[in-house]
Order: sequence, then C-alpha cells, then structure tokens
Amino acid sequence: MAVANTIPAERVAQNKRSGSLITLDDLKVEYLSPRGPVRAVDGVTFDINPGEVVGLAGESGSGKSTIAMAILRILQPPAVITGGQVLFGGRDILAMSDSELEDFRWREVSMVFQSAMNALNPVMTIGDQIVDAIRAHSRTSKSDARQRAADLLDVVGIEKARIDSYPHELSGGMRQRAVIAIALTLNPPLMIMDEPTTALDVVVQKEIMYQISELKEKLGFSILFITHDLSLLVEISDRIAIMYAGQIVEMAPARELFEHPLHPYTQGLMQSFPSLTGDKKRLTGIPGSPPDLISPPSGCRFHPRCPKRFEMCDKVVPKLAEVSPGHLVACHLYPEVRAESQNHGD
Ligand SMILES: Nc1ncnc2c1ncn2[C@@H]1O[C@H](COP(=O)(O)OP(=O)(O)O)[C@@H](O)[C@H]1O
Ligand SMILES: [Mg+2]
Repeated sequence: MAVANTIPAERVAQNKRSGSLITLDDLKVEYLSPRGPVRAVDGVTFDINPGEVVGLAGESGSGKSTIAMAILRILQPPAVITGGQVLFGGRDILAMSDSELEDFRWREVSMVFQSAMNALNPVMTIGDQIVDAIRAHSRTSKSDARQRAADLLDVVGIEKARIDSYPHELSGGMRQRAVIAIALTLNPPLMIMDEPTTALDVVVQKEIMYQISELKEKLGFSILFITHDLSLLVEISDRIAIMYAGQIVEMAPARELFEHPLHPYTQGLMQSFPSLTGDKKRLTGIPGSPPDLISPPSGCRFHPRCPKRFEMCDKVVPKLAEVSPGHLVACHLYPEVRAESQNHGD
C-alpha cells in the first residue's frame, strides 16, 4: 500500500503522540419539541487518546449520532447544545467561530456516515470527487491531487484503475471505501464513523472493519466508532462506551468489557448478540423499549427494564464511577457507585 508517500511522517508521529486528543465534558444536547425538550445527550463525559479507537454502542435513539454531530458542530435546529465542553487540543469546539470551524472540520476531524455511500455525487467519477476534496483544502496541482487520489484509493483497497469509475459502477462496499478515502484526504487526527458498515452485508462489513483497523494502525489516527451492534466493536476498539437514553452507563477497555460486563444493560446487550451461525433471532436479553427522553424515568433510566433493580434504583441517579482500573459503570449494584451517587445527591 502506498501509505508512505501519501501521509507525511511527522503527521503520523503527531497523531500517535500521547495525551488526550479530544475530551467531552458533561456534554448536553436537547432537541426542542412542542412537548418539551428531548434530552438526547444528557451529561456525557469521555475522552479519546491519540491513535485510540473508542467504540460507542447503544440501541437506536440513545443519542450516539447526536454526540457525533455535536463534536463536528453540524447540529441543526431544533437541536441546542445546552451544556458542557468539547475540548480538542485544548480548544473548546463549542466556542469556535464559523471560520474556525471551517478549518477544524475535515482537517482535524472527518466523518463517515452510514448513508455516506449514497451521498457520493452520481455524475462525478470517484477520482474527481477525491481530487475536489483535496483541492478544496490545500493548494495542490490537479495532477498531484490525482496521484494522491489514486494512492488514497489504494490505501482503502480499491484498485487505482477504478479512479475513473462512477459511483454506480462500484459495489456498495466499494462506495463506502471511496467515502472513507475522501475522509482520509487531509489525514485528520480523528475520524468519526457513524454506523459506517450498517448498510452492507456481513462479509463486506467484516472486510471493511478489518481494513479500517489496518489503516488506523498505519496512519495512527483516532476513531470514534459508533454502532448499535456491539459485536462489531470486539476487534476494532481499544475502549468501549455503552450509551443508554442519552447517557454513558459503562465504559471500559474492550476486552474487559466483553469479559466482565458490569451494567445489567450491557449484560443484556451481550445476550442479544446474533449467534455465530448467523441466526437472526435476537434481543432476548432486554425486554421493553428505551424511555421517552422528554420525561425519562427517575433515578436510573434503565430501572424499568432492569432485571436486577432494587429499592434505590428509581430514587437515586447512579453516577459513573470507577470500580476497577479503567472500568467505569453507573449502576447501584456497585458500592463505589452508591457511595459516589449519594455523596453528590440529585
Ligand atoms: N430533529 C429531532 N427532533 C426531535 N428529536 C430528535 C431529533 N433528532 C433526534 N431526536 C431524538 O434524539 C434522540 C437521539 O437520537 P440519535 O442521536 O439519532 O440516536 P442514535 O444515533 O443513538 O440512534 C432520539 O430519541 C431521537 O428521537
Ligand atoms: Mg444514529
């Protein structure tokens, strides 16, 4: 792969340096609705280190995409960011001006959406679309940009010869790879992938996941990988955060999370895995459905669905607390959480 001449070495080194790359601190986002504010993201705190892959998983509607859009500041009304900070290299993204944001997006953080492969321009070749993306952000000659576009296609596993193909001439998997190539054009230190493989069949999904982890090993960028399918995160993630009803309920190193899931919701998600034979019967783990985010349940938001709930669960909001090194959970089953939650009251 032509990675070496595609990405400057110092940028790769910079991507791999230590210290947190992005920090979300008590982020709150609401969608205003006639019935009242929908608290889609309600006090979310986590960070991503350089070169780290953080997986963000949770049922549909739990607020994952809202977090992604808040980081890129692409939320549209009726969404309002009502609190918190998003620090990137020490700068608060939430305080950036429009022109600062223009520089920031794509150069510092790029994004691949689930539906991105349908967002390719149908009347332009993929090569021209990558060339445009390169030239929109840097002074590069057409021929250099075309060379780089070919290298980028190679990097994501598309033959260079396909550079003059139109999107409709490519399979769904190749279109999604082309979109990843576009997101790589400026080699941003952080890439957000929001359900990037959800529309693809399982085999192509696996191939692309493998390719993404290879790319990040080589280029050293960080990834926030969003999915409703926890099983996709096993191999790719360094750490995993589990979201429920606008909040993070558990966060831990990937292997630790899979071996010792602590939150009853996480345990339920694990039992909902499709079986290895591809049998699709699922979600036996968690009966019921996620709550209304306009008036969420009191105490722990998961308590109405929780098989392990006890007396305090509908009364005291559980705080996220560290119960073993690097393993945080927000559930009253754990003494550290009870101590933390009662100290702070609510
Ligand atoms: N434009 C909107 N108006 C009102 N509510 C919205 C809007 N967009 C999203 N929501 C609500 O915000 C919550 C979080 O949505 P989203 O971030 O898309 O979740 P996810 O990506 O986890 O599926 C959901 O309950 C959804 O209904
Ligand atoms: Mg989403």
